[in-house]
Amino acid sequence: MMNEITPETIDWENLDFSYIKTDYRFISKYKDGKWDEGELTTDNQLHISEGSTALHYGQQCFEGMKAYRTEDGSINLFRPFENAKRMNNSCERLLMAPYPEDKFVEAVKEVVRANEEWVPPYGTGASLYLRPFMIGIGDNVGIKAADEYIFSIFATPVGSYFKGGMKPSNFLVSTYDRAAPRGTGAAKVGGNYAASLLPGKEAKGRSFSDAVYLDPETHTKIEEVGAANFFGITKDDVFVTPKSPSILPSITKYSLLWLAENRLNLKTLEDDVYIKDIDQFKEAGACGTAAVIAPIGGLQIEEDFHVFYSETEVGPVTKRLYNELTGIQFGEIEAPDGWIE
Ligand code: COI
Repeated sequence: MMNEITPETIDWENLDFSYIKTDYRFISKYKDGKWDEGELTTDNQLHISEGSTALHYGQQCFEGMKAYRTEDGSINLFRPFENAKRMNNSCERLLMAPYPEDKFVEAVKEVVRANEEWVPPYGTGASLYLRPFMIGIGDNVGIKAADEYIFSIFATPVGSYFKGGMKPSNFLVSTYDRAAPRGTGAAKVGGNYAASLLPGKEAKGRSFSDAVYLDPETHTKIEEVGAANFFGITKDDVFVTPKSPSILPSITKYSLLWLAENRLNLKTLEDDVYIKDIDQFKEAGACGTAAVIAPIGGLQIEEDFHVFYSETEVGPVTKRLYNELTGIQFGEIEAPDGWIE
């Protein structure tokens, strides 16, 4: 019999980013033009029609967010309304039924409360990852939007997404594209991530942490770092992050832009990041809910290997940004209004 992990046996300090079945998940169904009330269930299996549009035409989207245990034992959610909004933007792009934003956040809270024992203890650096997702279901075969949907949220305790967490690692500029110029790159849909599997595998096969994608139109500008956004700190202390209609609008990235400007007093810029100007950066990193901040030590660009701050040490600005962001998430530092629920 398989040894089931429980909150009593779990090794909180050594969690990686893997699925661990927790006790409850939320599930709601859309039929005849409306969402039902939804409920918590212990069943982690979905029973859906073989004609579900999610299975054939990729009509599905998802979100990633985390719940954090604070020192006094309470639990923080970080900007959950931003995830609710972003999921509805993804729904709009794939003609799916939007889910009311206040109900989204209420359902996330219900899942966290029901799985409270699975929220990692304060001080371990781990958190409870929440995965809201929506799929088109029902008996279909032609290419058209489904009439029925499932919205669900599961929870799983996680540690670092990239091995080593806040340690620098190296990335490879990919020759593949992740998304099309006016395609679905800005929506959080599974197809973007399916397209990244092969480039990611090839990068990892060459001992890089993941692939870095260039803009699909001209292949001259940095867009994304695996499943995370890119940022760089210029030699004159400007926080720069790419602007493009084909990258995912990361909530962590926009939080860092705000923190860089308002807490670290840096200039900030969301603009084109040309690969030919990579020398302008003294530090660089990947950021996202799962990745938090993963410092980029070096970047392989065709035959050239470019080192930013160091392959082994984290740069001082990256460290300050990380401390500010995680300090807010774990309730150690005062949060800007409306960031913590
Ligand atoms: C997240 O940062 O939450 C993501 O969605 C990345 C993920 C695909 C692991």
